[in-house]
Amino acid sequence: MKRFRRLRASEQLRRFVRETHIPKSCLIYPIFVEEGENIRLPIASMPDIFRYSVDRLDEIMQKVYHSGIAGVLLFGIPKHKDEKASSAYDDNGVTQQAIRYIKKNYPDLLIIADVCLCEYTNHGHCGIVCEGKILNDETLPLLAKTAVSFARAGADIIAPSDMMDGRVAYLRHALDEQHFEDIPIMAYSAKFASGYYAPFRDAAESAPSFGDRKTYQMDYANGREALREIADDIAEGSDIVIVKPALAYLDILSQARQRFDLPLAAYNVSGEYSMIKAAAQNGWIDEKRIVLENLTAIRRAGADIIITYHALDAAQWLEEEI
Ligand code: PBG
Ligand code: ZN
Repeated sequence: MKRFRRLRASEQLRRFVRETHIPKSCLIYPIFVEEGENIRLPIASMPDIFRYSVDRLDEIMQKVYHSGIAGVLLFGIPKHKDEKASSAYDDNGVTQQAIRYIKKNYPDLLIIADVCLCEYTNHGHCGIVCEGKILNDETLPLLAKTAVSFARAGADIIAPSDMMDGRVAYLRHALDEQHFEDIPIMAYSAKFASGYYAPFRDAAESAPSFGDRKTYQMDYANGREALREIADDIAEGSDIVIVKPALAYLDILSQARQRFDLPLAAYNVSGEYSMIKAAAQNGWIDEKRIVLENLTAIRRAGADIIITYHALDAAQWLEEEI
């Protein structure tokens, strides 16, 4: 008889043969920055997540800094929204101000800037809209201006999440032209049109005012297409690729891990977070156990990097485990 239980007999043995670990250095924490002053606004659908104005960013950045995680993913929420998303590429925009502030005060943390137009457009779509259609090629120059403006402000990594075709090559070219050839691109390559983004759209005020995102984000039924999207973003010059959401898409992560060699990130999205918080608040699950189990599963599937709203709690819990 094969006695598998031999190596499960004590915590020391289990730890000794454990295959998957979560280093704090792989965790990224998303932060919402709102234009204005003295803001710390709770997000109703995301317990323990707040929107901060730049003057109060320290309250959360101190925690990020002391947690030992790798860095933050920034989402800006401007006061002014229009058809052309002009606040996105305004060098004095809220996201640029946040980047400059964090760069100056927390130079050891990685600043990843999410590049998309949906928080900045008055219709909430991720690109330019004409007669109800989301235009691809007309959107690219605006994304490029945004990426360059974020890089100029001090972003360490540019993360396009818009899902327009050809944007990685376009952004790479624009960044290189402005002498940001050393700024990596971390593309949301396999980003699915998902119901799991609902709480985020509350947080970022970025819900589309008409229609949905299905003409640009992927159909969640399509696994092979996800691999083609990833292969294409790599060919266009992406340095890191993201699969999003994470938990219902572990098959995609696992296949991408086997097929591609570059760093792979998973975005453990808002809906995945809020479901756990809701169940935990009801006493139905043990939050710490569930979160560590989920994050371990994401790593086991093949993610090198995990973007998660649980990052600060997880960093604390991982410390306790050691
Ligand atoms: C914007 C963007 C979204 C998310 C990250 N960037 C929302 C969307 O595509 O509607 C989702 C993140 C989350 O749900 O946590 N393009
Ligand atoms: Zn968007």
